[in-house]
Amino acid sequence: MPDPNGRFYVTTPIYYVNDQPHIGHAYTTILADVLARYHRLLGVPTHFLTGTDEHGQKVQQAANKRGVSPQEHVDTYVTRFTDLWAHLGITNDDFIRTTEPRHTEIVQKVLVELYARDEIYRAEYDGWYCVTCERFYTEKDLADGMCPEPGCHKPVEKITETNYFFRMSKYQDWLIQYIEEHPQFIQPDFRRNETLGFLRQPLTDLCISRPKTRMSWGIELPFDNDFVTYVWFDALLNYVSAIGYGADDARFEQWWPASMHLIGKDILTTHTVYWPTMLHAMGLAMPETIFAHGWWLVGRDKMSKSAGNVVDPMALAETYGIDAFRYFLMAEMVLGQDASFTLEGFVRRYNADLANDLGNLLSRVVRMTVSHFDAKIPPPGALATEEKHLQEITLAAVAGMRDAVVRMRVDQGLAGLAGAIREANRYLELRQPWSLAKQGPEARVLMGTTLYCAAETLRMVSGMLYPVMPEKMTSLRTVLGCADGEPDYTRLRHWGELAPGTPLQSMGPLFPRIQTEKPAGGESKPKTKSGATSGKKPSVQPEGTISYDTFSTLDLRVGCIEKAAPVEGADKLLCLQVRVGEETRQIVAGIAKSYAPSDLIGKQVIVVANLAPARIRGVESQGMLLAADAGDQLRLVTVESGAESGAKVR
Ligand code: MSP
Repeated sequence: MPDPNGRFYVTTPIYYVNDQPHIGHAYTTILADVLARYHRLLGVPTHFLTGTDEHGQKVQQAANKRGVSPQEHVDTYVTRFTDLWAHLGITNDDFIRTTEPRHTEIVQKVLVELYARDEIYRAEYDGWYCVTCERFYTEKDLADGMCPEPGCHKPVEKITETNYFFRMSKYQDWLIQYIEEHPQFIQPDFRRNETLGFLRQPLTDLCISRPKTRMSWGIELPFDNDFVTYVWFDALLNYVSAIGYGADDARFEQWWPASMHLIGKDILTTHTVYWPTMLHAMGLAMPETIFAHGWWLVGRDKMSKSAGNVVDPMALAETYGIDAFRYFLMAEMVLGQDASFTLEGFVRRYNADLANDLGNLLSRVVRMTVSHFDAKIPPPGALATEEKHLQEITLAAVAGMRDAVVRMRVDQGLAGLAGAIREANRYLELRQPWSLAKQGPEARVLMGTTLYCAAETLRMVSGMLYPVMPEKMTSLRTVLGCADGEPDYTRLRHWGELAPGTPLQSMGPLFPRIQTEKPAGGESKPKTKSGATSGKKPSVQPEGTISYDTFSTLDLRVGCIEKAAPVEGADKLLCLQVRVGEETRQIVAGIAKSYAPSDLIGKQVIVVANLAPARIRGVESQGMLLAADAGDQLRLVTVESGAESGAKVR
């Protein structure tokens, strides 16, 4: 949400550079991207920061194992994140790496200041250390003598050493009061209560150093070169070093305090206890909101390398499309709660919301506008109750999406937009514009109004979906002739901005339906091109054959020829009007040498219904008929009686 200063500074956690990026990392970054794009659409100055956490024991160990220096190691591995973000269409304004001098210098500057003010002191420490979490625990923190961190639970080592400590304990009362007085500071509410619960125990001081004898890959303490900085103390400072803290005051003033730190629920304590007390000691204002989202589970299980169920975002986006992947993540997770990923769930939502509802609405509007209004947006007549109802639902969905962003309920906003699309499809079924074509001038005006209203819903909804599906919605808006630049909320919240007469552009299907394999007697399974979860192998196809999946991408339908006429200047072509279910398609077929137009009326034929529209000799053709060679003639493939027009051919 824009903070009181009317600008939006959003951050993701900086990811451990060693980790293989997975759907959890992709989720936080896509969420930040979606929020940033919505704020830009709303005209709010926006700054979006992400990056990588590059110090610590695990990096040092991994570099040793590869026989390279830690710096070489992180320079190689960081590209897995930068490449993924580029691939997923992430519009971060900055990418910070904790090994960059602009960060390390500021960390040292903060350390010097805090040490000079006695906020940091040296002491002997005796504690239990977990190598995996890189954290010390007291005896009573331990869970059955093991690391207490949920999901870790590994053996800990007893360590006595000299270290440096940040006087975090003295800020306990201040922090409790701040959290209680600022309900928006930690969100959702139940996470605020979790932090307050944690703060019921006495807060200890924070060990912020590691002796080099044990771990040297870190930022050296400027006042004692035998030590490096604890990774969390280093990492949290990225949120201020990246925007010029201690280096460029004007820039820092422009963006600090952050509007929204997005984090996963596992890093709540570091962000809602360590970070605010550090900021307070530094004399800086608190971020507006720290928002902790839930976890992506795979089915019901935690995702982990050892379970072999890590979901690879790159493979999913490659197989099903980046925008569909972005949409799924945003629509499926109720912010704050855990969500479950399954390939079946993904395909179900894709087919329902995108291929069926949105894709269908667009293709119906385009097809009828091409056939009956020379491919130009028709002018609307007066709006009756039905049109006003659609208008109201659309306007409410647009405003609802805006509010949902402010309330951090992106899933609800998207559900509202999906509802408006479904309403527009229902409205078309009610008005039946395909049957209005032959009913005289008044009906034609109503047909124009109907198509205009459906197209207007598409314009408004696609603009509000743009932050989630930027590429696909740009394509959709190009088809509608309203893709000039990025969508802008001031135009999206008004009905009637689509100019009558705007020419439509032709384009293939936006969201081709994902077909599911039906193993004999088994449950249907979505096809995967390149195993989206590790461990799955792509299926191998014998040469010269196609899979059932490939075959089933063809949408073959029964059609009934209602009219046929020669195409001027093309002696092989006939222009046919073919009824396919509830709609009438214009199809240009090369059968004039084989059939007289009058022989064709009433014939039940097979139509390839999802063939991209084409212009043949200047005439729009919306599909193709199947025909068999018969010497130098063609014989149409027909069906026996009993199959209705529009029936699927398998
Ligand atoms: N480097 C620290 C963050 C420092 S921020 C100053 C870190 N990195 S991380 O790479 O381990 O995790 C980054 C984020 O990914 C965390 O917010 C974490 O919650 C999130 N996720 C890791 N697995 C996840 C899921 N399965 N689902 C959703 N997000 C999860 O922690």
